[in-house]
Amino acid sequence: MGGLVESDLAAAVGKAGGYPIMPYSWSSSGEIEKSIRSLRANTDAPFAVNLCLDFPQEARLDLCLSHGPNAVHFFWGDAAPYVKDVHAAGALVIQTVSDSKQAIKAVDAGVDILIAQGWEAGGHVRGSVATFALIPAVVDVAGSVPVLAAGGISDGRGLAAALCLGASGVVMGTRFAASTESAAHPDYISRIVDAGHSDTVHETELYNIGWSNAAHRVLRSDLVDRWLADGRPDNLTRHRAGEIVATRGSAEFMTYQSATPHRRMHGEIEALSMWAGQSAGLINSVEPAASIITTIIREAHIAIGSHLHKRTEPAE
Ligand SMILES: Cc1cc2nc3c(=O)[nH]c(=O)nc-3n(C[C@H](O)[C@H](O)[C@H](O)COP(=O)(O)O)c2cc1C
Repeated sequence: MGGLVESDLAAAVGKAGGYPIMPYSWSSSGEIEKSIRSLRANTDAPFAVNLCLDFPQEARLDLCLSHGPNAVHFFWGDAAPYVKDVHAAGALVIQTVSDSKQAIKAVDAGVDILIAQGWEAGGHVRGSVATFALIPAVVDVAGSVPVLAAGGISDGRGLAAALCLGASGVVMGTRFAASTESAAHPDYISRIVDAGHSDTVHETELYNIGWSNAAHRVLRSDLVDRWLADGRPDNLTRHRAGEIVATRGSAEFMTYQSATPHRRMHGEIEALSMWAGQSAGLINSVEPAASIITTIIREAHIAIGSHLHKRTEPAE
């Protein structure tokens, strides 16, 4: 998750048996080096780096590969041109897909792990197919390539359901955005915890400053509701267009900017892009990442166990 996964959260996930993915799509070389050093000082758990292919990533990819990540996760594009170099550096290639055609292309190109992202997901969401329909469709064309389910999953029932659909695991964003180690702003975390499952919207040209023509799912807010009520006006004519609403040091953030609310930002946090999936409706507390993982695994065992139990009970 760009803008809120830092080494504390990544290390906590790695130590608890999860697999941290470090978001470096918009990071400087100095930030990447510092972040990887800090992660490595905390844990020797394997980790992946995440790069968004809607922006030039060659220099970041070279730098990341020189630090020996376990995998490179590409999203918003085709990983094919990078597969050879990533493999040559000894890392695996992960690609997010949002339909079965993209999945076939990725498998043919040698991608090692697919993430199938349903449109329930928080943050930037490329496709329009729901997770439940998407996972089996991608699993059917993936052959021996493992598929991880992303979008709308935040508890063990979701994990169990994804496994039943043929996924090998799940990718959770919003659940960990509301974890103790998250670098998200506390106001944003509170809004995730308070949100119901219909408190998010999926739009293309809402938070489009800095990254346009890229669909995304965010929490509703006064600003979002006003923009929808006004009939989705363009960048120049919309309510409060161009207004600076938050700062972080000398950096300024404006309305409709694609910018994750970070704990070191000050200002009107609710006017920023509070990325969240429909999964937010199932999140009712802020917990340490390790206890989130333990609880989810326990819940998944119970969900699968009770289902099997019901199925094997003799008929009356
Ligand atoms: C705050 C936030 C930031 C995200 N940033 C990225 C990103 O930088 N790269 C990426 O591949 N996916 C990103 N995503 C999407 C996640 O990888 C994942 O697909 C999504 O969170 C799954 O849905 P969920 O939020 O319902 O768990 C982001 C999601 C959130 C909530």
